[in-house]
Amino acid sequence: MASSSSIYFLFSIAILFILGSNAATTTSKPSAFLLPIYKDKATLQYYTNIKMGNNPGMEMNVVIDLGGLFLWFSCDGTYDSQSYHPVSCDDSAKCEAAKTMGCISCLGPVTRPGCTNNTCSLSPFNPFNKSLSGGGLSEDQLVVSSTDGLKTIIPSFPFACVSPFTGYLDGFAAGTKGMLGLSRSLIALPTQLSLKFKIPPKFSLCLPSSTPNSGLGNIFIGGGPYSSKSVTIVTPLVINPVSTAPAFFVGDASEEYFINVKSINVDAKTVSLNTSLLTIDGNGFGGTKFSTIEPYTILHTSIYKAVLQEFANKAASMKMTRVASVAPFGLCFSSKTIRTSGTGPAVPAIDLVLESSRAPWRIYGHNSMVQVNKNVMCLGFVDGGSKPRTSIVIGGHQMEDNILEFDLASSRLGFSSSLLLKNTSCSHFRAF
Ligand SMILES: *[C@@H]1O[C@H](CO)[C@@H](O)[C@H](O)[C@H]1NC(C)=O
Ligand SMILES: *[C@@H]1O[C@H](CO)[C@@H](O)[C@H](O)[C@H]1NC(C)=O
Ligand SMILES: *[C@@H]1O[C@H](CO)[C@@H](O)[C@H](O)[C@H]1NC(C)=O
Ligand SMILES: *[C@@H]1O[C@H](CO)[C@@H](O)[C@H](O)[C@H]1NC(C)=O
Repeated sequence: MASSSSIYFLFSIAILFILGSNAATTTSKPSAFLLPIYKDKATLQYYTNIKMGNNPGMEMNVVIDLGGLFLWFSCDGTYDSQSYHPVSCDDSAKCEAAKTMGCISCLGPVTRPGCTNNTCSLSPFNPFNKSLSGGGLSEDQLVVSSTDGLKTIIPSFPFACVSPFTGYLDGFAAGTKGMLGLSRSLIALPTQLSLKFKIPPKFSLCLPSSTPNSGLGNIFIGGGPYSSKSVTIVTPLVINPVSTAPAFFVGDASEEYFINVKSINVDAKTVSLNTSLLTIDGNGFGGTKFSTIEPYTILHTSIYKAVLQEFANKAASMKMTRVASVAPFGLCFSSKTIRTSGTGPAVPAIDLVLESSRAPWRIYGHNSMVQVNKNVMCLGFVDGGSKPRTSIVIGGHQMEDNILEFDLASSRLGFSSSLLLKNTSCSHFRAF
């Protein structure tokens, strides 16, 4: 007995020594991963920090795109890594998994990340400027923190290495170099981590708000330290049969996350809507999806007008004083006439009634109102015009300080409702 425990003791010391000498990086099998979420105050974009490559590799900030197909960033000559390798066009398994659109080469004399011959191509999209660029499908190691506090090396993580050109990052938050996609695509982070570490294919998103001292948000992949009891509202994730990507193959379904909103209530009164806009038609139009790229929820113009009308009626009965609108919003009030509550400004609640869920998603003032200046607060929804591809695009502001759990195995969205109800926020995840 004694001898086996002293062997164990020596073994532990050896492990500590290895971990210590390697800056606590591990290749052991973690059960869940954790990435921080920052919010850029100028652009309202959410971004995270990743360490890509090795010797030297690079630490960089990348914008989080919940519907994004893959990781991409600029290989602008400053990116150098011994573990980098391009994916050859002869590797049909990897190229097909990534849905490559062709084969690219580089006229440059030197081979460096982003300039290689016979490389499968991807088309990274800049959603702020709506422009497509080109990049080579590549693999390199990605270092991600696991929930046990260690850093884990994810070998051969697929991404698109973009040869930079003028304007390709127009509209991106200062200091960011690309995008991290979290969609259901095979080469996006959630599926890759699930495949490589045999962890459940699910992740949760807790976006931080703009309020001062709100701290950081979190992405948990594989499971989280929050209790499953905090995810009380559950609704199916639905597949849009027609891709919503800027470039795709005929027959491809969308890799973005859609849910079925059945109706909308303002202060418990059902808003009269053309409900056929809420379902996805055969051409992939209509329905409701999530986007971390849009700062505010965008509504089909007829839904927008109906919700604003109902909200304005209720607000008038609460003696909220309407003032001139401040773009891009269409309904604003004098802040002085709005009380504050534990869930933000005390305004009429907006409910999204969800498929198969008894409780609606209740949007309180913290997630519905935007303080545009000292004296004015506006309803944080935006008019999407009369022919949008998707009728409701739930934007960042409406998701903040809520836990949204995307479970790809059961195809369900779990939802916590505002964490402010529990006197907490995304930055206090350990207290859930
Ligand atoms: C790619 O191939 C072209 C044509 O064969 C050649 O001129 C060029 O130097 C090659 N580039 C690299 C980076 O190997
Ligand atoms: C969008 O990006 C392109 C590059 O694809 C750039 O040339 C252009 O100036 C950008 N446009 C805007 C409006 O920012
Ligand atoms: C309701 O929306 C559908 C889908 O856009 C449209 O075809 C239909 O004409 C609309 N109905 C009414 C009454 O506006
Ligand atoms: C919420 O938290 C604040 C600050 O931690 C505390 O002062 C307050 O009493 C708490 N309220 C409730 C209802 O728990």
